[in-house]
Amino acid sequence: MSKNDNFDPIEIDWRLKVFDSLSFPTLVLRPDRTIIAANAKFYERSEVVRDDILGKTCKETFKKVDNVKHLSCHEIDCPLQQVLNTGKSQSIIQRNISRKGEDIWEERVFSPMFDEKGEVKYIIESLRDITAVKVLEKKYIDVREMIDKVVQSSVSGIIAADKTGKIILMNEAAEGLFGYSTADLEHCNIEDFYPKGVAREIMKKLRDENIGEKGKLPSTEVRILTKNQEEIPVEMTAAIIYEEDKEAASAAIYNDLREKQAVQKKLEEAESQLFQSEKLASMGRLAAGVAHEINNPLTSILLYGNLMREKLGNEHPLISNLNYILEDAERCQEIVKNLLAYSRQKRPTKDVFYLNNLVGESLRLIRDQKLFMNIDVVKELDDYQILVNADKNQLCQVVINLIINAIDAMEGQGTITIRTYRDRQAGKAFIEVADTGPGIPEEHLSKVFDPFFTTKELGKGTGLGLSMAYGIMEENHGKISIKETGPQGTVILLEFPEEPISDEFHFMSIG
Ligand SMILES: Nc1ncnc2c1ncn2[C@@H]1O[C@H](COP(=O)(O)OP(=O)(O)OP(=O)(O)O)[C@@H](O)[C@H]1O
Ligand SMILES: [Mg+2]
Repeated sequence: MSKNDNFDPIEIDWRLKVFDSLSFPTLVLRPDRTIIAANAKFYERSEVVRDDILGKTCKETFKKVDNVKHLSCHEIDCPLQQVLNTGKSQSIIQRNISRKGEDIWEERVFSPMFDEKGEVKYIIESLRDITAVKVLEKKYIDVREMIDKVVQSSVSGIIAADKTGKIILMNEAAEGLFGYSTADLEHCNIEDFYPKGVAREIMKKLRDENIGEKGKLPSTEVRILTKNQEEIPVEMTAAIIYEEDKEAASAAIYNDLREKQAVQKKLEEAESQLFQSEKLASMGRLAAGVAHEINNPLTSILLYGNLMREKLGNEHPLISNLNYILEDAERCQEIVKNLLAYSRQKRPTKDVFYLNNLVGESLRLIRDQKLFMNIDVVKELDDYQILVNADKNQLCQVVINLIINAIDAMEGQGTITIRTYRDRQAGKAFIEVADTGPGIPEEHLSKVFDPFFTTKELGKGTGLGLSMAYGIMEENHGKISIKETGPQGTVILLEFPEEPISDEFHFMSIG
């Protein structure tokens, strides 16, 4: 310490001890930047001796100390100058390299010591090693960046909102799902993302301790609302984010359920089709057996009955009874014929034909029937000539069955509309038979394709029409379904794979 400093020696001794015992490397400088003291830690830190630094300027000193970078002497950059200008402490963070070549982060703090007049007399500079803090800070930044990447790359939509509902985070998947972009979020509230009342309902459930853990919503199916006001089914989980026991924000994860639900629906349809075909197959075997057994005795009843009728002549008193017997036996034969047709094992004989022709032919086959009474038949046939590859005779049987069902349903009055159309992209062709009848009651919907299910009076229907149609459509790689039914009428839909048109077909004449 300079002799010019008029400290009391005891005081100086005491101050030196404190100064020396400081755990930070520390220097005392004069305003002219000469170093007048350094503590033990400083010598240890910088590996210099007293003569290297005392009485020297900081610039001269730090040139010798190769593990502490010299700070610029430029007025604005020099923290020492800033202390002199402002009379306030200054600090800068500096990255130095240790002798072992490792990074050391140090905070260099410059504090003023004033004289009696309030002028800065000395400047204390201490170096604080903040490497550990810096390492932690770097780790924190890395983890944050990693979390950001995970959130952004997640295939699930993730949204966080503050306690007022303002959106504070939205990942790319959520942007895609909800249709909003980051620019829209300024004016959005989380309530806009759900149909009316749903957001509040979710918050209520989140706070309800009886539903899962408090502040957490287990996986739930809800409908969200997109920017285009489209409602989408999603599976969501949500959580309230607490800060010191107070609600600070909420976050939710969404997974679009549309695809899953579509697959599930297809699976259910396939299952019910399989069930129906199995049922039809076993009923078919049973029906074939019964029909076969009954057919022979019936043939002889009819044969001998007709012989008897010829012998007895029309005047015989018992002839009307015999006629009843024969009429009923003929009806039985008709039923047996249907049963045998229903249970037929024969493969369809397929051919390529125009769908519109199938409609024309089916109508021609029942044209003369008095059945139609006051029923109008409207044909709405696709202008495009749709081709299908199927057994035309079998399909005529199906269309006729549907027309007769429609006639029966309308009880003599109404309109039957037969439509053909196609879905070019899906490669599908369709025929619809629509009536203006009373519709099929809900409780019958699962039974109408069952063999022998009929609501018609005894002797009028066998209940085989639709189940036969079902079997035929299946054999022809098509489908039959009830498209609509209600008090306005019923629409039955037949669906086929569309046959791609071939050049050869253009030149063929087909019926
Ligand atoms: N277009 C329709 N409108 C209302 N109900 C219908 C219609 N088509 C079918 N149904 C109902 O489905 C039942 C089963 O039809 P399905 O064609 O299999 O047998 P059916 O017509 O009763 O007898 P079958 O066809 O053997 O003469 C009918 O009895 C009727 O109750
Ligand atoms: Mg029928």
